[in-house]
Amino acid sequence: MQIQGSGALITGGASGLGLATARALAAAGAHVTLLDLPSSAGAEMAAELGGAFAPGDVTNAEDAASAVAAANEHAPLRIVVNCAGVATPAKVLDRDGNPTALADFERVIRINLVGTFNVASQAAAVIAKNDPTDGGDRGVIVNTASVAAFDGQIGQPAYSSSKGGVHAMTLPIARELARYGIRVCTIAPGIMETPMLAGLPEAAQASLGQQVPYPARLGKPAEYAALVQSIIENGYLNGETIRLDGAIRMAPK
Ligand SMILES: NC(=O)c1ccc[n+]([C@@H]2O[C@H](COP(=O)([O-])OP(=O)(O)OC[C@H]3O[C@@H](n4cnc5c(N)ncnc54)[C@H](O)[C@@H]3O)[C@@H](O)[C@H]2O)c1
Repeated sequence: MQIQGSGALITGGASGLGLATARALAAAGAHVTLLDLPSSAGAEMAAELGGAFAPGDVTNAEDAASAVAAANEHAPLRIVVNCAGVATPAKVLDRDGNPTALADFERVIRINLVGTFNVASQAAAVIAKNDPTDGGDRGVIVNTASVAAFDGQIGQPAYSSSKGGVHAMTLPIARELARYGIRVCTIAPGIMETPMLAGLPEAAQASLGQQVPYPARLGKPAEYAALVQSIIENGYLNGETIRLDGAIRMAPK
């Protein structure tokens, strides 16, 4: 599907993988709308890209609906990239062997999994009513899982299950939206060089990079954005999760 002239909604678009994607799509001629938290740098980034900022929370239905409406205003909404997410670690047992706080587990599931579904659902309702392109396409939804969906580490039961859920719902959503000409794919990144990772000391980041078989470095946000672009442009990719990870398989910890 052609990117030029399409409306694109990018969640988590104020930072990291979402911001790199917004930059790439804007450069390819899309009108971008960034849905991110009001506290984020969304307004500044959207202005830089000639796009719109829709402040909000992906877990809220009204916030998602207004972001979708904004993204459909300047050009027909055809592209949705779900990048909003959190990676807060929590083990099953705390240091003293007590059960972990259930609210911590629920929060990660709510943002990463429920938030992704919420935005996909709100967006699909609008995209399905837009006219198709000459090729019969109405749109593409790209979600973000993680290699933790498949090889989760100690401390990642919430994160892994949220991302496993994003992977698992890719096929049923692609099957449902096929009749509208909407494709759905998911990217499962390995260790990417974004603000999410920047909290780690440099030595820890370098050591993570060395664990990648080839190339032995962290992934670049632009490499994620390039895959989003390929998924949009390759009309035969649908219902699939693609790992983008330099062949890393995460160790237990
Ligand atoms: N960086 C990595 O190594 C890596 C690896 C695998 C998967 N991922 C996934 O990629 C996605 C992007 O991560 P990133 O590294 O760019 O992180 P990031 O922290 O740079 O960006 C995440 C963005 O999501 C926004 N966000 C968080 N909660 C939100 C909410 N409830 N509503 C709206 N926006 C919200 C944040 O404000 C932020 O701008 C996440 O889903 C993450 O789990 C990242």
